[in-house]
Amino acid sequence: MVLIGFMGTGKTAVGKRLARLLGWEFVDTDAEIERLTGKSIARLFAENGEIRFRSEENLLCRRLADRERLVIATGGGMVLDPENVALLGQKGVFIKLYADPEIVVARLKGKRRERPLIGRGDLRERVLTLLREREGAYDIAEFSVDTGKQSPEESAQLIYQYLKENRYLHENGQG
Ligand code: S3P
Repeated sequence: MVLIGFMGTGKTAVGKRLARLLGWEFVDTDAEIERLTGKSIARLFAENGEIRFRSEENLLCRRLADRERLVIATGGGMVLDPENVALLGQKGVFIKLYADPEIVVARLKGKRRERPLIGRGDLRERVLTLLREREGAYDIAEFSVDTGKQSPEESAQLIYQYLKENRYLHENGQG
């Protein structure tokens, strides 16, 4: 189960709740990369560059690709690399989270320091530009949830229902 979508769409918040509903393990790729490298994402970008961060993302995808009963909250740029999509798609179902750009901007205010790609300049401008550049990138998902209109708990419930209705879960609720 792979949650994808732009920054600020609630992948971590929804993912944690969904994992709880499913009784599955939860992995947040940014948090995992921070743990593995011993650096915050901001520091990793600053000291080692985006290329290094993207290579850490790719390494992590390889490690997670064949795991089951796992909810993965990806970083917003993870699925821009087709190899990552192929890896995560081996076992995972892609679910897209999205929200109105203005909601995304509001949510990202005050969180810019943690997110190097939107760290400088006019925040709204930066978000709109990145959204434009990434248009369509998240449409590989087979199910999408607008997280701007409901709580993370409600979004998690919707995804849980979808997985159940589409027979992704066994009878005991575990896939
Ligand atoms: C990124 C999104 C971030 C983080 C990094 C790059 C991106 O994750 O991986 O700052 O390229 O969109 P979130 O989507 O969890 O903010």
